[in-house]
Amino acid sequence: MRIVLLGAPGSGKGTQSQLLVKAYGVPQISTGDLLREAVAKGTPLGLRAKAAMDQGQLVDDSIVLGMIRERLARPDAAAGFILDGFPRNIPQAVALEGLLAEIGRPLEAVVLMNLDLGVLFKRLTGRRTCEDCGRVFNVLTSPPGTPPHCERCGDMPRLVQRPDDREEVIGKRLEVFEAQTKPLVKHYADNGLLRVVDADAEVQTVFESLRRAVGA
Ligand code: AP5
Repeated sequence: MRIVLLGAPGSGKGTQSQLLVKAYGVPQISTGDLLREAVAKGTPLGLRAKAAMDQGQLVDDSIVLGMIRERLARPDAAAGFILDGFPRNIPQAVALEGLLAEIGRPLEAVVLMNLDLGVLFKRLTGRRTCEDCGRVFNVLTSPPGTPPHCERCGDMPRLVQRPDDREEVIGKRLEVFEAQTKPLVKHYADNGLLRVVDADAEVQTVFESLRRAVGA
């Protein structure tokens, strides 16, 4: 499996990637996660990325492409990969095509997770992450229970909100998606790779549609 999950912030790319990882054993490569890791460690790359992320803007292509090149070269990606949140603009898509051609492993499908703006907003404002293991909850759609419980970390997990899930930043992220990422829909439709999934359904229902879309 060599696929891209394309979709607006909050459309469920991360949630569905995790299910694909479990089902097919190929790694999820999320540029957002890689960047947050670099920010948390305070690396020079993380320090450069943080300002853009906090404002809902895209991080420089050069930073993201360097990370992707390095990640795709690791042995676990030889069997396949799920690209989550990458590419995010046309230059990144063109660079990815070049990179995959170099290693002889072209994309098999690009799946657009389709969802209305109102639902996206609700999903993002409700998202909470377990600070210790990274498991994602949603106080509105998949609450951690009463008392809160994380299946990996036990009772009373430390749940935090991503800094870019504040209402004032969400608007910017959605604008950036419309302006810079949406053109990829036509790009991938034109080269025959695009599949579209209705992401406004229960997690498991979306997963079944996704499996059908990628022929898995
Ligand atoms: P990134 O981390 O990629 O964020 P994003 O694309 O904005 O996507 P999200 O992680 O917000 O949402 P998701 O689609 O994964 O949804 P999730 O499954 O969590 O990027 C963050 C930032 O990093 C960017 O703004 C940019 O600055 C930078 N960046 C990243 N990649 C870059 C790149 N390539 N180039 C340049 N900069 C880059 O679900 C959301 C919530 O909804 C959760 O609470 C979940 O529990 C819930 N949920 C999921 N599915 C369902 C469902 N079916 N029903 C009900 N609730 C659901």
